[in-house]
Amino acid sequence: METLDVTKIEPRLKHPTIFEKFEGLCENEHFILHNDHDPMPLRFQMQSELGKVFTWEYILQGPEVWEVKITKVPKMEEEEDRSTIGELVVEDYRKADVFRKYGLDFCCGGKRSVQEACEKRGVDYKLVKADLDELDRDQGTSKENFNDWELDFLCDFIVNKHHKYVTEAIPLLLEYSAKVARVHGERHPETIDIAHYFKNVADELMNHMPKEENVLFPYIKQLVAAKKAGTTVPKPDFGTIVNPINMMEAEHLDAGDDMEKVYDLSNVYQPPADACNTFRVLYAKLAEFEKDLHQHIHLENNILFKKSIELEKEVMAN
Ligand SMILES: [Fe+2]
Ligand SMILES: [Fe+2]
Repeated sequence: METLDVTKIEPRLKHPTIFEKFEGLCENEHFILHNDHDPMPLRFQMQSELGKVFTWEYILQGPEVWEVKITKVPKMEEEEDRSTIGELVVEDYRKADVFRKYGLDFCCGGKRSVQEACEKRGVDYKLVKADLDELDRDQGTSKENFNDWELDFLCDFIVNKHHKYVTEAIPLLLEYSAKVARVHGERHPETIDIAHYFKNVADELMNHMPKEENVLFPYIKQLVAAKKAGTTVPKPDFGTIVNPINMMEAEHLDAGDDMEKVYDLSNVYQPPADACNTFRVLYAKLAEFEKDLHQHIHLENNILFKKSIELEKEVMAN
């Protein structure tokens, strides 16, 4: 393996020398960068100037010596890596299961690339990528495409499926989480925090969903009807749809953050060996609730809201 020892290069020539070295590589070739401190600033410089045309793998990470394997990768990979998690799930909803498996947020955090999301949660990107590639190869299994649905139909679907589920699931989950915290809180203090964070999620959603049902969704339906009729709609009190959407997305983030705490505290819904039945049922139901919440927020943030903003522009131009 070829090593470039940058400790021996004059400081102002370091980065140009490294760039020159990188430019001289053919695709899939690499070199080892040897340094006496973490060369992370170089990584950012390369990323901003060259884009994602390289991979960066630490071989040694201090405290005295840092070595990084820098490999030139084909442009194709660059484009694929730029897709955000949300976009990938919009294209193929089966991918949501992959992100769920690794605890990567595809609804509120859907605007991140897969790589960024992996870095944030400390997940090995290569494993996630391998699972995603597997799905791309297997086009046979069902691939429901919410992206093709009419927006008024999507609003009804969200209310009838997800809002109904949330409303029905919350009372039991509040009861069980409070009971488990009361009975097992001493031995398993995380259950007290879980009850607290789940209560936040419940309060946030019960306050949030009526705003969608009473204000935002009816307006979206009006827009759909106006587009079909080739007419326009009166300017709403909230100015433009972007305002309530920003508010809804901020509320999704709050609920998503609290749900992520539950996910972590429960050790990804794995009950301890001494857990009683209520404890086990609680964790199973919380896992189900989280799965539903992610799909719900994904449909809103990544499909419904995004397309409604475009639809409003189109209708208002009439
Ligand atoms: Fe909703
Ligand atoms: Fe929502």
